[in-house]
Amino acid sequence: MPNETANNAPAVQTYGLTRVYGSMIALNALDLTVNKGDLFGFIGSNGAGKTTTLRILATFLAPSGGRAEVLGHDVVKDADAVRHVIGYMPDFFGVYKDMEVTEYLDFFGACYKIPSAKREKTVNDVLELVGLTEKRGALIGALSRGMQQRLGLARVLIHDPQLLLLDEPASGLDPRARIEMMAILQELQRLGKTIIISSHILSELQTLCNRVAIIEKGKLIYSGPVQGVRDQMSTGQIYWVTVKDETAKALELLKARPEVSEAVAVDGQVKVTFKDHETDPGFLAETLVRAGVKVTGLWEDELGLEEVFLRVTRGETQ
Ligand SMILES: Nc1ncnc2c1ncn2[C@@H]1O[C@H](COP(=O)(O)OP(=O)(O)O)[C@@H](O)[C@H]1O
Ligand SMILES: [Mg+2]
Repeated sequence: MPNETANNAPAVQTYGLTRVYGSMIALNALDLTVNKGDLFGFIGSNGAGKTTTLRILATFLAPSGGRAEVLGHDVVKDADAVRHVIGYMPDFFGVYKDMEVTEYLDFFGACYKIPSAKREKTVNDVLELVGLTEKRGALIGALSRGMQQRLGLARVLIHDPQLLLLDEPASGLDPRARIEMMAILQELQRLGKTIIISSHILSELQTLCNRVAIIEKGKLIYSGPVQGVRDQMSTGQIYWVTVKDETAKALELLKARPEVSEAVAVDGQVKVTFKDHETDPGFLAETLVRAGVKVTGLWEDELGLEEVFLRVTRGETQ
């Protein structure tokens, strides 16, 4: 039974969580907080440590150091309590192709000791939630990949867990199936579930999640709202300048400025990168105008979120 501490605890809290495989450090002193009610994006390129983290939280893998709590329960000492409150969907899970959808869910309901009298309703409820009511009698092998993923989601919902741990549930889905999956996750959040979803694609989660964490080589490099990623991650702001005729002169003038880390010509436009991202761009026009160069355009680069992510993680893994 959840005690007071468990009730007030965050959904997930890790303290210096570490995992090694031989001499390889897969998770390096991770301090992660996920609050109740979050739809939380857990992002990192391949090999970053996402699956390792989720498996530890799901009590399938022991940490090598540090500790982790799920709704106040220690994943090692109170593993049973943790298993009752989580639903874990691994990145690859076998499906029983020759089984019918309802048989499959009924089987997992029985595993969670849901009494048979109650089970039919539970199965119907989760099928409704994931939009598979019409497919209740279908063979699993005949379902599309998107439907099989939704069935996987139905399976982890069968015991009504408070926290869902979903390891790359959208990978391999076509855009439509991905959108359907995202809509279901939003509905589950609305119903009060806390959801952690991992992905190696930041932009995939940017509109879905209220908070994200980015890990790289087993280390946390960002945790907070999606909007904060860009501010915190961009190494320097980028501005574009166009001038009348004298591009080469503009380039030289801007290169000489202490605020500028790089100025290059790209298709007749000048791309200026600042050393830090809080620089006031006013000096750009001022410098050029004072030297008699006519400025015809000046705008900030809309650095895509994905580019920010790639820039931060570029070449960092494997
Ligand atoms: N069972 C294992 N034995 C050895 N190394 C592993 C094992 N599982 C994962 N790793 C390594 O740990 C690192 C993190 O892997 P993983 O947690 O699967 O990352 P992600 O899910 O972010 O791709 C990778 O370098 C991976 O090769
Ligand atoms: Mg993985």
